[in-house]
Amino acid sequence: MRPTTPPARVASPTGPLADTPSATASAAPVLVSADELLRSDVLRLAAAAGVVVDVARDPSTALRRWPVAPVVLVGADLAGALAATAPPRRAGVHVLGHGALPDDLFRHALGVGAESVAALPASETWLVELLTDVGDGAATPGVTIGVLAGSGGAGATVFACALAQAATTRGAALLVDADPLGPGSDRVLGVEGDAGVRWDAMLQATGRLSARSLRESLPRRGALSVLTWPADGSASLQPFALREVLSAGARGFGCVVVDLPRRPGKVVDEAVSRCDHVVLVCGLTVPAVAAASRITRTLLAGAVSRHLVTRGGAGGVAPAEVSQVLGIPLLVAMTDQRGLDEAVNLGAGPLRSPRGRLARAARTAVGRLVGPGGTAATVGRPVAARLEAAS
Ligand SMILES: Nc1ncnc2c1ncn2[C@@H]1O[C@H](COP(=O)(O)OP(=O)(O)OP(=O)(O)O)[C@@H](O)[C@H]1O
Ligand SMILES: [Mg+2]
Repeated sequence: MRPTTPPARVASPTGPLADTPSATASAAPVLVSADELLRSDVLRLAAAAGVVVDVARDPSTALRRWPVAPVVLVGADLAGALAATAPPRRAGVHVLGHGALPDDLFRHALGVGAESVAALPASETWLVELLTDVGDGAATPGVTIGVLAGSGGAGATVFACALAQAATTRGAALLVDADPLGPGSDRVLGVEGDAGVRWDAMLQATGRLSARSLRESLPRRGALSVLTWPADGSASLQPFALREVLSAGARGFGCVVVDLPRRPGKVVDEAVSRCDHVVLVCGLTVPAVAAASRITRTLLAGAVSRHLVTRGGAGGVAPAEVSQVLGIPLLVAMTDQRGLDEAVNLGAGPLRSPRGRLARAARTAVGRLVGPGGTAATVGRPVAARLEAAS
C-alpha cells in the first residue's frame, strides 16, 4: 500500500471546474484515440482493473460520451483535435501517451481541461488504480463509524462488533480492528478460525488498495467482513495503511466500523479524522466518566460528529449527566447484556440474542448513524474524505 507516483498534474487555466454530470453506474470510462497500440495497452490495463473501457476514435464520438463517462482518457494522437473543439470543462479527464511526450501535448491537455498527462508504460500502475476506482463505484462512499472506549473495559470492542453486525441489515459492512492490543475482533465475533487476510498480510501490500480486493480477501461471514490481527503476534499499524483501508472500505462497503485504540498517536488521529461519526462508550461510574473526559479532550478533538453510548445500570451516574459533563450527545444508554461473556466464549458473537439489550442498542445506533443503503445519516463527510472520493 505504498503510495504510487501520480502522472504530471495540469493546472487548469480557467479556475475551478464546471459542474460535472454525475457518473452513472452503467457509464463506462472512455478512451479517445485512434492509436491501436494505445488502445490495446489501455484495454489490457482495464481488464486488470476489472472494468470495460469504451473507445471513441474521433472527437465527435468522444463529445457524445463526454458528459456521462466517469473518466475520459484522451490519447496523445487526438488531444489536439479534441482541444480544437473546446469541450466543456469536466473532472476526470486525463491525457495519455507513450514514452517521451511532446511539449505541445501539455498545451492540448490544458485545452481539453485535463487533470494530468501520463505516459505509458511508466504510469501503468496509476492507470490501473484510476480504473479500479471507477470499477469500485466510488460515487457514493459508505459511512465510517469509529468506536472508542472512554476507559479500559468500557465495552467499545464489544459494541463495535455488535454495531458492525447490526449494520449488515443495511448492506455489506466492514469491521476494522485498529487496536493491536485488543482481544481481536474475530475472536469476539467467533470467526477467528475463518480463512482470510489479516493486518500482517495487508501491511505487506504495495500500491493502491481496491475495494474489490478488500472485499475478496478478508474473512467474511454473510455480509460482514473483518480486518483484524494475526493470532500469533501483532503487526504495528501505520497511519498510511489505515488510510488506504478506510478509503477502500468506504468505496466497497455500506458501513465501516473501526474499533479505535485508546492511545494517543497518529493512527488514532488518522482514523478519527476519517470517520463520519465517532462513538464514545462510557461506563456509569465517576472514574469512568473522568477517564472519558480526558479521552474526549485528547483523542476526540478532531472528530466531526461525536456520540455517546453509556453502559451500566441503576445506581450509576445518570447517562444524561455523563452526556452533559462530556459535552457529547447521548446516542443510546444500554444496560449490561446478560450472558454476553458466555456467548463470546462459545464463539456465538455478542449478538447471540437479537432481542438483547446490546442488539437493541446496536440497532438504535445503526438507525441513527447509517442511512438507507449505508450512507452517512445525520452529518456530511469530512471535507478531506469528500475531496478524496471526488478525485
Ligand atoms: N454490553 C455489555 N454488556 C455486558 N458486559 C459487557 C458489555 N460490553 C462489554 N462487556 C464486558 O466488558 C469486557 C470488556 O469489553 P471490551 O473489550 O469491549 O472493552 P473495551 O472498551 O474495548 O476495552 P479497551 O479499552 O481495553 O479496548 C467484556 O469482555 C465483557 O465482559
Ligand atoms: Mg477494546
